[in-house]
Amino acid sequence: MAAEDQTKRPFKLRSQRWFDDPTDPGMTSLYIERMLNFGMTRGELQSGRPIIGIAQTGSDIAPCNRHHIALAERVKAGIRDAGGVPLEFPIHPIQETLKRPTASLDRNLQYLSLVEILHGYPMDGVVLTLGCDKTTPAQLMAAATVNIPAIGLSGGPMLDGYWKGRLAGSGTIVWEARKMLAAGEIDNDTFIEMVAASATSVGHCSTMGTALSMNSLAEAVGMSLTGCAAIPGPYRQRGQIAYETGKRIVRMVEERLRPSDIMTKKAFENAVAVASAIGASSNCPIHMVAIARHMGVDHTVEDWQRVGADIPLLVDCQPAGRFLGEAFYRAGGVPAVMKQLLDAGLLHGDVMTVTGRTLAENVANIPDPDPEVIRPLSKPMKERAGFVVLSGNLFDNAVMKISVIDKAFRERFLSDPPDVFEGKVAVFEGPEDYHARIEDPALGIDEKTVLVIRNCGPVGYPGAAEVVNMQPPAALIKRGITALPTMGDGRQSGTSGSPSILNVSPEAAVGGGLALLKDGDPIRIDLKARKVDVLIPAEELAARRAAWKAPEIVNKTPWEEIYRSMVGSLGTGGCLEPATLFLNILETRGES
Ligand code: FES
Ligand code: MG
Repeated sequence: MAAEDQTKRPFKLRSQRWFDDPTDPGMTSLYIERMLNFGMTRGELQSGRPIIGIAQTGSDIAPCNRHHIALAERVKAGIRDAGGVPLEFPIHPIQETLKRPTASLDRNLQYLSLVEILHGYPMDGVVLTLGCDKTTPAQLMAAATVNIPAIGLSGGPMLDGYWKGRLAGSGTIVWEARKMLAAGEIDNDTFIEMVAASATSVGHCSTMGTALSMNSLAEAVGMSLTGCAAIPGPYRQRGQIAYETGKRIVRMVEERLRPSDIMTKKAFENAVAVASAIGASSNCPIHMVAIARHMGVDHTVEDWQRVGADIPLLVDCQPAGRFLGEAFYRAGGVPAVMKQLLDAGLLHGDVMTVTGRTLAENVANIPDPDPEVIRPLSKPMKERAGFVVLSGNLFDNAVMKISVIDKAFRERFLSDPPDVFEGKVAVFEGPEDYHARIEDPALGIDEKTVLVIRNCGPVGYPGAAEVVNMQPPAALIKRGITALPTMGDGRQSGTSGSPSILNVSPEAAVGGGLALLKDGDPIRIDLKARKVDVLIPAEELAARRAAWKAPEIVNKTPWEEIYRSMVGSLGTGGCLEPATLFLNILETRGES
């Protein structure tokens, strides 16, 4: 809508209740006067132009998203050209690799900070600056709760990095460098140089870790422009799509196109299918379930099994494959993956997206991908490569990321008839305990051992630590046993390729079944039946439960205390439970 046509709009903008309320000149003057003090004019605020927030996640302590400070200028240009007025504002920063004890503690804090801003300030729509792992789900969760027109802008992955002529993927190279350091092949300085080789430019992690996965799923669920997710941070196309994103959000306000029109049950199912095809991070089920809960959509971790387990892996990206974000982008990115899944009837094509068009319309003219990086469905990287959702007498649910499981392990556990793993557990009370005791011969760890780590969930850690991918003791590695099954109530880094039973819910710290395990307990893992059971009598388990005492918890900050008192399990998204009762708050809770 051109500026001169603003008055013809059939509805009143939300921001006009602040800036243009003839019935209350006193308050209107107060709202207006302070906005003028940095040079804004009454004309901008009072001529009925949509006020568009830009939620800024970039800062000097959030380097993965820092590029958004520059991109915001292109977003603003787009907003202006479309007739809107941009207002950029900071939200609580999250940096995956810097924040102690873990960045996932802060996802719900960034969520809260954005909800409060979107609800309490005069905004008609918002651009979400997506990037580093938790920043994407946090902002989509907030957009869902407030249900104001919103569009995601990814910052994009870093450029390809190389170490000694080989691709060096973010995070994934850390796991490799650790093994080399442990084996005495490199020294400390070389270790740092090797890891730093993966950090080439502005942008987020280059592997298909949580960042690139969640940005891809933001696009797959319909919340960012077609092709937005994978454009590398420094490419010109990144600035160009920032501009288009700014233009588009103004139109979305005029169309009254809101997250609830886009993030439907079908859209979440699409995201699950895409997650399998790209080999998405094991953090994705947690985040997508959280976004859905704040949207009021019935989408659970079981949907990941139902919709996603049988979808093949198509994208050859680390950690499941070879390439990085740059190659993924040049091969066609998310639209190329979605086009293939759609053509095979594996997606709902009729869902609405931020473009104002359906998914099917968005990808109708997408060219065929480069098959070297994005395989055709007829020749996938791996068949049936989604997440397997497990349950049993120790927990309600847990996930296993099948796309990273190597051939030998797959043949052993997913063969027909399946090989059931029976062994005994070695139990660690957390990462410190694991590091202190893993080499202790008294534990008797052998090839029939399942390594279990507990007290690492949302309450236990707090925030849920990325620690479940545990290495066997050195003595076993020397004998050629480089991986054992692992299980835990924590998470696993999205850049790790370990086969592990993750996100066990409920967690030990609140009395989940892992709390009852003792060293040496016999256990059976049947992946085909999706069952994990400890083979001890129910009476014995009941007696242990009766004797169980909750671990003493020491909160180090006020937020840790608030978080722990309200957080649910990973299996239900790790949400602040009271916050999930606030749905669509602008309509249901009154707006002012
Ligand atoms: Fe920020 Fe990986 S550490 S994206
Ligand atoms: Mg991580």
